[in-house]
Amino acid sequence: MLVHIEDIISKAQAGDYAIGAFNTQNLEITLGIIRGAVAQHSPIIIQISETTIKYASLKAITHVVTTLAKNESTNVPIALHLDHGSNFLSVTECISAGFSSIHIDGSKLPFDENVNLTKQSVEYAHDRNTWAQGEVGTILGKEGLVKKEKNLIKPDEYMTDPEQAADFVQRTNVDTLAVSIGNMHGIFAGQEHLDLKRLKAIREKVKLPLVLHGASGVDAKEVAEAIKLGVKIINIDTDLRWAFTNSLRQTLQANPTETDPRQILSPSIDAIQELVEKHVKIFGSAGKS
Ligand code: G3H
Ligand code: ZN
Repeated sequence: MLVHIEDIISKAQAGDYAIGAFNTQNLEITLGIIRGAVAQHSPIIIQISETTIKYASLKAITHVVTTLAKNESTNVPIALHLDHGSNFLSVTECISAGFSSIHIDGSKLPFDENVNLTKQSVEYAHDRNTWAQGEVGTILGKEGLVKKEKNLIKPDEYMTDPEQAADFVQRTNVDTLAVSIGNMHGIFAGQEHLDLKRLKAIREKVKLPLVLHGASGVDAKEVAEAIKLGVKIINIDTDLRWAFTNSLRQTLQANPTETDPRQILSPSIDAIQELVEKHVKIFGSAGKS
């Protein structure tokens, strides 16, 4: 069932588990995510990025997610969220489309500009019964990792500063906060370690649900520790893309003459389901719906 994100996160806040926020790009990934959640009786967030909106159109992808959430999961709560909204227009469009939560990502802007953009988005969202996620600190990706390894950037230059996080929350009134604590976008298994000391220091100053982006490739034990320290939403994208496309490649290689897209895509849906089931067990949200 489609619910407001608050219904899911307020329960997670009171419990000792986190909610997976899984990125979808199409019908098949959405089916796999929802089937995984239903099989494990786990509340989840399904999130959509601006690039997916460009690819599929806001109306179409919103309908896919909301219709499947309503019909495929009658007992499992699912919330719809905008991931990495880069501007105010994206925020307004997704709220009009019925999202119960938006992420306004001003983390690349100077701090005061991030505060202003986030504050404007939060006010707009709250007037329309929508939650808003803000972000402080820079979450690295592939390029950032190279700089980090060459020692061209130091943790204090890109990770979330606890004092600044508290100031940001107080000035913007966000509902959830994305933090940079060693998490990176993409899979860099073995090179991605969470700075749990920093997370603890952030937690002492910020009592809101914290969001861990870039969780693909982060060790399950570190994820479990982060949940104990206040992480309540965990974003997974690359893992799903890999599962989907690896399965697709294998299916096509094994069945080079198959022309029925349903036959070709079904194993990829199953691969997504399996992965979502694995993640929600790690997050502790299995059985919570
Ligand atoms: O916003 C989406 C996530 O942070 C996904 O990160 O691709 O490393 O799983 P990931
Ligand atoms: Zn992210």
